[in-house]
Amino acid sequence: MPKIVFNCPDGSQRVVEARSGSSIMETGTKSGVPGIVAECGGALACATCHVYVAENYRALVGEAGDFEDEMLEDAAAERKENSRLSCQIPMTDELDGIEVTVAPEQ
Ligand code: FES
Repeated sequence: MPKIVFNCPDGSQRVVEARSGSSIMETGTKSGVPGIVAECGGALACATCHVYVAENYRALVGEAGDFEDEMLEDAAAERKENSRLSCQIPMTDELDGIEVTVAPEQ
């Protein structure tokens, strides 16, 4: 199973195994990763699953879609070049080892 490395707002790091097809948000919340609120449950309506994707995985993950892009503009934490909503990133074997930093405010 592909792994996700979460850098949490409390300074801790969690390495979690993901089911292929599950989103990074689903994997994080099911595993109790701190800092991912995911208020809307993945419906692309809250922007409380904001993460920063490590540079070496950005190309594999791709860019945010238009609607996600708009949602990121209203995210509580600073929007950066590598910002994504983690409910919109389905895990694949190709993404094994991906590192994401959970945004400090959600
Ligand atoms: S969980 Fe609400 S936008 Fe991702």
